[in-house]
Amino acid sequence: MMFQKIRYRLFLSNLLVLALVLSSSAFVVRILFIRNLKQQLTERLIAVAQGIAASSELEHGQLELQTKFSPQQLRAHQQVFQWFDTQKRLIEQQGDPNYAPTLPFNAERTVQTQSDKIKLLIVTLPIVENNSRRLIGHIRLSESLEEIDETIARLDVGLAAGAFVALFLSGLGSGWLNRQAMQPIEESFKRLKQFTADASHELRSPLMAISTNAEVALTYSDGMRKSDGEKFQAISMATDQMSQLTEDLLLLTRADKVSSFESKKIDLTTLLIGSVNLYRPQAQTKQIELKAEIENDLCLIGDEAKLARAFTNLIQNAIQYTPANGEVEVTGNRIGQELLVNIEDTGIGIASEHLDLVFDRLWRADRSRSYYKGGSGLGLAITQAIIYSHKGTITVTSQVDIGSCFTVSLPMAFTN
Ligand SMILES: Nc1ncnc2c1ncn2[C@@H]1O[C@H](COP(=O)(O)OP(=O)(O)O)[C@@H](O)[C@H]1O
Ligand SMILES: [Mg+2]
Repeated sequence: MMFQKIRYRLFLSNLLVLALVLSSSAFVVRILFIRNLKQQLTERLIAVAQGIAASSELEHGQLELQTKFSPQQLRAHQQVFQWFDTQKRLIEQQGDPNYAPTLPFNAERTVQTQSDKIKLLIVTLPIVENNSRRLIGHIRLSESLEEIDETIARLDVGLAAGAFVALFLSGLGSGWLNRQAMQPIEESFKRLKQFTADASHELRSPLMAISTNAEVALTYSDGMRKSDGEKFQAISMATDQMSQLTEDLLLLTRADKVSSFESKKIDLTTLLIGSVNLYRPQAQTKQIELKAEIENDLCLIGDEAKLARAFTNLIQNAIQYTPANGEVEVTGNRIGQELLVNIEDTGIGIASEHLDLVFDRLWRADRSRSYYKGGSGLGLAITQAIIYSHKGTITVTSQVDIGSCFTVSLPMAFTN
């Protein structure tokens, strides 16, 4: 689950970077391509205009046009030819008048772009008489940019499709690469877990040996010095806590193995009442009012022993972290297909910056509080693992010095 999340994040960030790279390179390609297209068109128009200018002559003070264009030829490119005399008067126009330039005649600028309703590229060249090198007029040639715009639109579609395909393929690739990269990490994590499980398992028998020996010594304590008896007592208690700790570790490392879970129909109402009753004596000695308000017939499918463990951990914490004269309340309700259990206390609370940490293994708000209070910092980690394996959720809200509320939500039936 943890690795799933990391993988997902890696995949998304890979994709994001790729998308950025692709779109910026597509952008550059587009700009260069458009520039190139316009330049080609300009060169072509200038060449045509030069040809016409060269073949035009002045005859009896009139511009003589040597060239006539067939209407089809003009229409094909939506070209318009215009001749101006030296007074900048239009004296002749050929081509579709709808595409005639609306920009005023400007002899100074060879290349102009008109970006009105009709987008045009306009080329203006002087007509110089062959012999006298005298300026006898101007030729203005324009061509619609529609064609180029169409090409650009096609280019855009092509670029988008290409980027999409590239993104898709690299998504597949990065998914595969991520898996390759994560595999060794996942494996070493698994090995670490296995080691924890093995170590806890191996610790069981020596701990058992210490514990039994201490107990035997305590049973036959005649003739033993009093101080030695106390030492054996301490050894016995410490060994018990250590056994509990190794059992907890074992449970945690095995928690995500579904096979170690039973799936039976269980009555959560009875289970919760049983757990609450288990802690009544402890609550009484601490003068904590322990209330339970649990709906009847809360049934679900799951592992009874594990769920009991989860809820007793929560109730134990509530009592443990609530000072005398406080209150602990356990409520159980059914809402739709969910079973909702609240364990609320009026205890010391948890600082908001610690709320995310309480479920971490071995995390405890007060590190100086040692094992004598019972608990190792594994309790909530175990609880969370158990609830998750039942496809449930556990959340906590808390305010320092006011109290905490742990909320467990369990689906009535979960399927593996
Ligand atoms: N009901 C609660 N009120 C205040 N703090 C809590 C409560 N439950 C848990 N905590 C905090 O979360 C930590 C982790 O809890 P847990 O995993 O059960 O470990 P442990 O109880 O062994 O310390 C506790 O040490 C405590 O600081
Ligand atoms: Mg605890």
